[in-house]
Amino acid sequence: MLIIGKMDIKEAAKQVAVLRAQIEENNRRYYVDNAPVISDYDYDQLLYRLADLERQFPELDSPDSPTHHVGSDLQAGLRFARKEHKYPMLSLGNTYSIEEIEEFAARAARLINTSFTYSLELKFDGAGISLTYRHGRLVQALTRGDGVVGDDVTVNIRKIAGIPHSLKGSGYPDDFEIRGEILMPFDSFDRLNQEREDAGDEPFANPRNAASGSLKLLDSEEVGRRGLMCTLYHIPSQDIPGFEGHYQALDAAASWGLPVSDKRRLCSSIEDIKEYINYWDSERKRLPYATDGVVIKINSLDLQQELGYTAKSPRWAVAYKFKAEEALTRVLSIDYQVGRTGAVTPVANMEPVFLSGTMVKRATLVNEDFIRSFDLHIGDTVKVVKGGEIIPKIIGVDLSARPADATLPVFPSVCPDCGTPLVKEEAQARWYCPNATACPTQIKGRLLHFLSRKAMNVLCGEATIDQLYDRGFVRRPSDFYQLQMRQLMSLEGWKEKASTRFLESIEASKKVTFDHVLFALGIRYVGQTTAAMLAARFGSIDALAAATYEQLLEVEDIGATMARSIYDYFRNEAETAEIERLKAAGLQFSMKEQAAAKASNALEGMTVVVSGTFALSRDEMKALVAAHGGKTASGVSGKTSFLLAGEKPGPEKVKKAEDLGVRIMSEAEFMALIGPEKTENVTKEEEDFPQDLFGGMI
Ligand code: IVH
Repeated sequence: MLIIGKMDIKEAAKQVAVLRAQIEENNRRYYVDNAPVISDYDYDQLLYRLADLERQFPELDSPDSPTHHVGSDLQAGLRFARKEHKYPMLSLGNTYSIEEIEEFAARAARLINTSFTYSLELKFDGAGISLTYRHGRLVQALTRGDGVVGDDVTVNIRKIAGIPHSLKGSGYPDDFEIRGEILMPFDSFDRLNQEREDAGDEPFANPRNAASGSLKLLDSEEVGRRGLMCTLYHIPSQDIPGFEGHYQALDAAASWGLPVSDKRRLCSSIEDIKEYINYWDSERKRLPYATDGVVIKINSLDLQQELGYTAKSPRWAVAYKFKAEEALTRVLSIDYQVGRTGAVTPVANMEPVFLSGTMVKRATLVNEDFIRSFDLHIGDTVKVVKGGEIIPKIIGVDLSARPADATLPVFPSVCPDCGTPLVKEEAQARWYCPNATACPTQIKGRLLHFLSRKAMNVLCGEATIDQLYDRGFVRRPSDFYQLQMRQLMSLEGWKEKASTRFLESIEASKKVTFDHVLFALGIRYVGQTTAAMLAARFGSIDALAAATYEQLLEVEDIGATMARSIYDYFRNEAETAEIERLKAAGLQFSMKEQAAAKASNALEGMTVVVSGTFALSRDEMKALVAAHGGKTASGVSGKTSFLLAGEKPGPEKVKKAEDLGVRIMSEAEFMALIGPEKTENVTKEEEDFPQDLFGGMI
């Protein structure tokens, strides 16, 4: 048995599997949901640990490990056309250690015999973008996607101030790509989050997520209103022959009117690099947008080409990442908040302090153990950081600054809302209020979740839910569909216009697609992405409800906890009765009904067999067939209208189709067949929602 240190390969394999699952899950939360739950620092530590294990145990390494590919921001569903990048959009090797930067410089000096320079830049913390200019005109903008294929968000990019539609000056290549970052400056971010909170929407965790979410809006006018900015920092060297260095190419790009940072420097020594890092580590706090490090690039384009790339990142560049900013402040009191799942979270109220561009006054205290681990007292001076979460986290207590009157917090033993004794599930660190069906805070939390933008998309804030609940009008989601005009008009501050609009948006929510309805139900552990996947996979609530625990486990990305939670949900009578009521109200509970509501008839009467890999997942391709009136089948037969073949289709299917004379259609042909209707229909349906009420959907 191979033993390195104390670990044998079996144990290493276990850890590798756990780390990969954790990283993929966090990739999804970060890139797709735009709602990270761990800090960049903690995420990077997971990645480093995995890379380390893969180095120690090369037999455990695999090309599809997250250490070898970049996370993907591609959205489930059919929002934007997907296009392949001309050159893959890679990530950067990164480190938090100056020693590793020194090693990078030393290695570069060893490899390169002549003298050379570095281009130093800020590492901007936004959403990556790749722009194509042809004959001086902006023709395409792709998000990073999975690095190979990106979402085409050109219409949205055209609305962002500072990105020229046409270049000025001369000397630009006829056809080139330029890459950079879309940023949401702090002031735009604060304004947007205020608006979202006022509307009862979940605020964005940080400007990066807000920028990325904004790029994926369907309403490009709204994109224009969000106050985004762009900074460009990379032209693939193949696209700019004739330039000596990267720095000079960016200077030229600036002269063509492209937004390029003026914080760049050319330098030639490790001392200069360290000075630049030190300077910006503190000075960045004054910048109006988020940065999370410094990028060090070898400037010469010839040398860049010589050094080349690994699968994931260039060998000629490295990023030094700043540790999250910290601030000191004082804890004034602690609130105990009950969430919609009943979990009780302690939250510290603090003296307001400026941190990473915004003023903070609350920090999560996670759970009781967390408070105890710091021996935190009310009145203590604490160190706070902003992680991936919206709400900052306390990372230390200055015991020496504890005032004499500091008090030990007392964790409540009963629900602060309904008074039910709290319980702690085995092996869990959190206290729960078990009174799920009658605890008002939990009920209200679930009602608010049900209506939220990514669920039923009905504009409704906490205050409205309080009013509706307190008057006894609403106890469960189906009650929203029974609301009467006179009930709403009887609420304080409600006039005819507001009441009508509310009822209209409740009515409009009946068109919300099944994946969103499934998310709205609030099944524990079923987030937006999982809901979309389950909807595509099972097609209807009845099929999902009938799935056995084992069948649920077979679904990609569904582990034991989630499978158990979904299985139990459909065996709970109160929940199934509520589903029946919602069905009776006319909500969409299957993909088919949904398709009927929006499909073209391009595939009417056809039976399609889908095989191979596509830009979309196979389930999404099947949903697309259904959305256009077609049926899918698993095997090719005389009844098959055509075999939709992606890359590497099943050889038996291809052979059978050839034998039977069944047409084999490529992805491109298929897209052309449904093409124009596809986009028209999808957009049309989205536009059916009263945009003025929702201000654009995500
Ligand atoms: S250069 C081939 N320069 O950070 C490498 N990237 O974590 C091209 N980023 O994928 C990237 N600021 O989205 C480069 N000044 C900068 C950057 C930068 C931010 C982003 C970029 C990259 C990611 C890596």
